[in-house]
Amino acid sequence: MQSYLRGAQHRALRQLLRRCARAQRRACSSLSAITAGFFLLLCACVLYLPEIHWELPDSADELRSVTLLVWTHPFGHYRRLPDCWEQYQVEGCLLTDEPLEYSHVDAVIIHHRDIATGAAELPPEPRPRAQKWIWMNYESPAHTPGLWQFEHKFNLTLSYRADSDIFLPYGYLVPGIARSHDAHLLHAPSRARVLRPRLVAWVISNWSDSQARVAFYHELQRYVHIDVYGQAGLPLASGSESVIRVVSRYQFYLAFENSQHRDYITEKLWNAVAAGAVPVVLGPTRHNYERFLPPEAFIHVDDFPSVRALARYLLMLRRNPSRLQHHLDWREGYSVVQPTFWAHHYCAACRAVRKSRDTTQVVHSLEHWFWSDRG
Ligand SMILES: *[C@@H]1O[C@H](CO)[C@@H](O)[C@H](O)[C@H]1NC(C)=O
Ligand SMILES: *[C@@H]1O[C@H](CO)[C@@H](O)[C@H](O)[C@H]1NC(C)=O
Repeated sequence: MQSYLRGAQHRALRQLLRRCARAQRRACSSLSAITAGFFLLLCACVLYLPEIHWELPDSADELRSVTLLVWTHPFGHYRRLPDCWEQYQVEGCLLTDEPLEYSHVDAVIIHHRDIATGAAELPPEPRPRAQKWIWMNYESPAHTPGLWQFEHKFNLTLSYRADSDIFLPYGYLVPGIARSHDAHLLHAPSRARVLRPRLVAWVISNWSDSQARVAFYHELQRYVHIDVYGQAGLPLASGSESVIRVVSRYQFYLAFENSQHRDYITEKLWNAVAAGAVPVVLGPTRHNYERFLPPEAFIHVDDFPSVRALARYLLMLRRNPSRLQHHLDWREGYSVVQPTFWAHHYCAACRAVRKSRDTTQVVHSLEHWFWSDRG
């Protein structure tokens, strides 16, 4: 109830702010019309000009903010909308989750799962001219049903795929200290601290024997001890923070994806990186991972002819701290950014809408693109 009230208060405040912004814009445009008229008159009097092009200067165009409508709160979980300037230094972005604003907004951001399962409908057609619809999805293709219904509907894609119109992965590295709200500075451990008390951790919430990762685990645990956390194992409080705290005690972390697809590298990997454990990855190819982090920053299950050979390698590293250090030295001088769902996503989308304001584009073959493995 309290959070609902807070939501209502925020909405009212946002509406007020929006009204102010609109009034300001109106004042500005009438002011510039008067100025324009005055100058035109002046020009016509003083000079002979066959043609006059009156255009708003670029800077004035940049001052114009855009409004993004969040069509559904993903998976039905209400979250306060962020202030994009305060949190991400993204200027000129207004966010709203009020559907009544639909006919006035520059773009609508639509979370795939909510429309695919029927929890929500697409916005009504005809859509306002120049409005962009953004398709947002962070599930892998295997867990993204009903794509076929949405061909030729969207204008921009927002996902973890590097070839999305708006690309925002689950995590990424930046050199130095990142200014972002969601960044975390990394350090290489000193020689004395490279060894950690425990060997291998795995966190899994959705245990299903049909998954490649579960079969892999069954075999690996024959050779090395693995502490399993989550639904099927040791208890774990929810949230990245608590995962990172637990994983910080371990040397290795099994960052096994639930399905294998291009660029589908989730918070499992980035939590391990943030926690300073060496990730053992099962997901897309090594080549694909290397687009996101240095080759020695992870151990890929495909690097070994057998599960047993992987286990031997992990045990060997444990006995050779200098070899282990090689997998951790790269960290010095990097920050990891783990974009907060969905605040960071909305602000990234809003920035992209501002940049592409005068362009028209349509996502014609959503399903084919999302399943494609090219690149
Ligand atoms: C859990 O795993 C099963 C089997 O792979 C899958 O069908 C289901 O969608 C998964 N659930 C979630 C929430 O990911
Ligand atoms: C957005 O996509 C729709 C549907 O295909 C299309 O009619 C419209 O022209 C596009 N608008 C922009 C601004 O790209």
